[in-house]
Amino acid sequence: MGSFQDITFSIAEFAHLARIEKGEISKLEAAGIIDTFRRKQGNSDRKVLNLESVQRYFEAKRIGRHGDQLLLPKHKVQMFYNVKGGTGKSTLTAQFVMKASMLGLRVLAIDLDGQGHLTVNLDVLDGHERPTIYDVLINDLPLQDAIMQVAPKLDLVAANLGLCNIEIPLNNKPRREYRLSEALEKIKHNYDLIVADTNPAASILNGSMLVASDLVNVVCATNPLSFHGMSLVMATIEHMEREFKRSLEVKIIPNMYDNREVISQEVLGELRSQFEENCTKTVINRSADLNEATKRRSSVWQVNTRGVAASDIRHLADELLAP
Ligand SMILES: Nc1ncnc2c1ncn2[C@@H]1O[C@H](COP(=O)(O)OP(=O)(O)OP(=O)(O)O)[C@@H](O)[C@H]1O
Ligand SMILES: [Mg+2]
Repeated sequence: MGSFQDITFSIAEFAHLARIEKGEISKLEAAGIIDTFRRKQGNSDRKVLNLESVQRYFEAKRIGRHGDQLLLPKHKVQMFYNVKGGTGKSTLTAQFVMKASMLGLRVLAIDLDGQGHLTVNLDVLDGHERPTIYDVLINDLPLQDAIMQVAPKLDLVAANLGLCNIEIPLNNKPRREYRLSEALEKIKHNYDLIVADTNPAASILNGSMLVASDLVNVVCATNPLSFHGMSLVMATIEHMEREFKRSLEVKIIPNMYDNREVISQEVLGELRSQFEENCTKTVINRSADLNEATKRRSSVWQVNTRGVAASDIRHLADELLAP
């Protein structure tokens, strides 16, 4: 199983992804909208599409009816956030950015956690040798120079342990919470979507991303402690809104849901009643496929195209990328 950039799509998989009939594919091919090539798999020779061809298809579809405007996500700069650890932020960030790039968006992923889990989830294993947002915010490295490509239309600002030391020097910088958004301003035009994974704390670095974001995606595991922590998360966000005189759009994504567990059902019910406006319709089920994708450092689509997790990520992407 290769990494995300080597992903290929069989005709059936592409039809499923594009929500079209298999029969339409030869027409798309004849019209030059997609290209297929043959790839040997065992004894058979299968027709497949590569990532770039799939991206071109979706890009062409996004052009408005009159050919004059592109249908792009309403929220261009997004972050996955929770002061509580282990709720699934890095997993969902990685799956979301891979999905968005499959859909032909030009995506920048930013790892704002010294643990570097987004970096690893995107199969970048030499993160310790890469520049990070530390170099940008503290040593004035142009953001452009901290960006690497991980796949066609998917770029990354990697993270490594050195990023854990950013809080004190960042605290001493003038306009500390604005530095990240000012850096992003300079490169924003190169992307359709910018998504950050954050560290599990009420840190200045996370505060900087709250200042820069159009949408905050709070990942809440459907367990009692995660639910309990939600009031702190919402209070942190409200504090930032007052301090920086911004109104932030917040979505809450219920994660690790297990419909066989009463406790999961109860927490989901509480989340929906207390934060009715904010909860996404999509609930991410607990699934072995997501763990497997983390292990393989690949997209969940590559693990099991027709599995529950691939379908959950697809619905999540539909919601978070709405124009
Ligand atoms: N829906 C899910 N089903 C099964 N496993 C999941 C799911 N979501 C996340 N996981 C697993 O839970 C673990 C923790 O997830 P992850 O690292 O994404 O959390 P996090 O919020 O980023 O943690 P941290 O706060 O330390 O950054 C990972 O092993 C991941 O594979
Ligand atoms: Mg994480």
